[in-house]
Amino acid sequence: MHMILLDKQLNYNGKMIAVAPMMDWTDRHCRFFHRLLAPHARLYTEMVHANAVVLGDRERLLGFDPVEHPVALQLGGSEPALLARAARIGAEWGYDEINLNCGCPSDRVQAGRFGACLMKEPALVADCVAAMAAAVRVPVTVKCRLGVDEEHDYDRFRTFVDTVAAAGCGSFVVHARNAWLQGLSPKENREVPPLRYEWAWRLKSERPDLQVLVNGGIASLEQVQAQLARVDGAMLGRAAYHDPYLLHRLDVALYGGELRERAQLLQALRPYAEARMAEGGALKHIVRHVLGLFHGQPGGRAFRQVLSEGAHRPDAGWALVERALQAATGQRRAA
Ligand SMILES: Cc1cc2nc3c(=O)[nH]c(=O)nc-3n(C[C@H](O)[C@H](O)[C@H](O)COP(=O)(O)O)c2cc1C
Repeated sequence: MHMILLDKQLNYNGKMIAVAPMMDWTDRHCRFFHRLLAPHARLYTEMVHANAVVLGDRERLLGFDPVEHPVALQLGGSEPALLARAARIGAEWGYDEINLNCGCPSDRVQAGRFGACLMKEPALVADCVAAMAAAVRVPVTVKCRLGVDEEHDYDRFRTFVDTVAAAGCGSFVVHARNAWLQGLSPKENREVPPLRYEWAWRLKSERPDLQVLVNGGIASLEQVQAQLARVDGAMLGRAAYHDPYLLHRLDVALYGGELRERAQLLQALRPYAEARMAEGGALKHIVRHVLGLFHGQPGGRAFRQVLSEGAHRPDAGWALVERALQAATGQRRAA
């Protein structure tokens, strides 16, 4: 099963596209939708703290639909034994990869000594990775930054990677900017520290055996192709979420297949949405992830408006989505 799923990503000369882990955004409904759009992309969960995996409600935190494969579980934490337990649980739930977050800069994360502040502790990250890799058979990977605060030291970055790779991590997602641990909000930390893709490219040329994915500010097919010429993969976060049709265009451009209309893709979500509603789920939890489907299109605003105004009503059903589609496509025909 895993071989088939991994093969799925290797069509484009072994190159990969991935949708970034995003808290509150890449939940299971979002991932299901993204999978419809991009059959070949690797999907990531939101970050889940290892402690929550071990002690919390696993169905809620870890449950996913088989359609989502290949899907990676992203863990937060810095205690090797705890991370190993969480990784094992994640692998038992069927995740194809366990990823350790070494890039999140929020205060809450810093107080818990994980996320981006782990960039300062390569030996600890290596211990974590070694414990996780010993606990599971699926790949253990790391998502990191280039450094923290004002540090601009490529050798230090490469030493971090080498130390962690030696412990059993063969794949790095590099969010190609520093994290500033003081004075910036998490949002600003995704925008203000400058992007330096060259470090990720240099890492790949110096460590060809490692798989390197670049993340940060990638928002078009041209930008993805420019990354894929130099590294193994491109990971998109905000652009994929806000303009999900981009994911579909990327998947078709890179891996082939038929380009489907936005409306067609949305209709493909219907059986899933209706099944969740039949179980007592609310439409709003699903359709909030599709609001950007007509991004940049003449009917995009109307589509978003009909859905956001109607989805919170307790009786909201698929008919609302049909109305939103009519609003969008009607305007497009008129345009
Ligand atoms: C709402 C939101 C939540 C995020 N949550 C996580 C997270 O849980 N784990 C993580 O590693 N990165 C997280 N990130 C960072 C993204 O994974 C990504 O590194 C960042 O957005 C840069 O990529 P982009 O420019 O393509 O968006 C989050 C980003 C956003 C916008």
